[in-house]
Amino acid sequence: MSVHSEIRKITTETLRKMKFDKEKITMLTAYDFTTAKMVDAGGVDSILIGDSAANVMAGFETTLPITLDQMIYHTQCVVRGVERALVVADLPFGTYQSNPEKALESAVRMMKEGGAHAIKVEGGKEIEESIRKIVNAGIPVCGHLGLTPQSIYQFGTYKVRAKEDSEAEKLISDCKLLEELGCFAVVLEKIPAALAKRASESISIPTIGIGAGPDCDGQVLVYHDMVGMNQGFSPKFLRRYLDLYSEITGAVSQYVKDVKSADFPNDNESY
Ligand code: KIV
Repeated sequence: MSVHSEIRKITTETLRKMKFDKEKITMLTAYDFTTAKMVDAGGVDSILIGDSAANVMAGFETTLPITLDQMIYHTQCVVRGVERALVVADLPFGTYQSNPEKALESAVRMMKEGGAHAIKVEGGKEIEESIRKIVNAGIPVCGHLGLTPQSIYQFGTYKVRAKEDSEAEKLISDCKLLEELGCFAVVLEKIPAALAKRASESISIPTIGIGAGPDCDGQVLVYHDMVGMNQGFSPKFLRRYLDLYSEITGAVSQYVKDVKSADFPNDNESY
């Protein structure tokens, strides 16, 4: 018997049941092996290899530049560190919007080469055929509505979405469409809490919120934000659980002092 055989593995079916049982779902991002191992050991239900890797790993201003090859690399690293959580990987900008065949090809690469358990795409009605094609190939799909960062140049800002009735109604109808198409969950980003509540109550698949209030079926945060590595980023929705930026820069400057003063390495740290 494998040493890990008693660890409960999370599947899309587990998430569906959690919504039914009113147990909140937890999701965090990770982009590398070591972080994925810690996040998984912390007991998170799902790990997202978000295309936010473009921002926090590569330093780009938007998520648009990251490529499918780069997302596959990050996914491979994460999968090697995970024993329990459901691993969901973003398909990056330009790899699924143009036509359903290309979307399926991208999703298959992410599953086959990346080793993801599921993929996430941004949008509703506009990408209906792409989602249908991917789901029909047996690949679990998570939707993403509200603030969809791959469309940032269309929105123009990162402000709260769907405050107007017409956009709110479209979001509700997109939620229902994603459920009909067979998506297993939908991320709701930066929308009014009351709308996220309404959306969560109108579909039977779980909603996972980020800046979408307390009534979503689960919550997701970017790991680097919740452990306080991103000093300059402090939106209202973010709760910081650590101040790793200060901890790490403090440790680095202590190391610099220790080496400069010849305090490190000492006799115990030498052969
Ligand atoms: O890319 C990402 O990290 C995401 C989350 C913010 C949901 O899509």
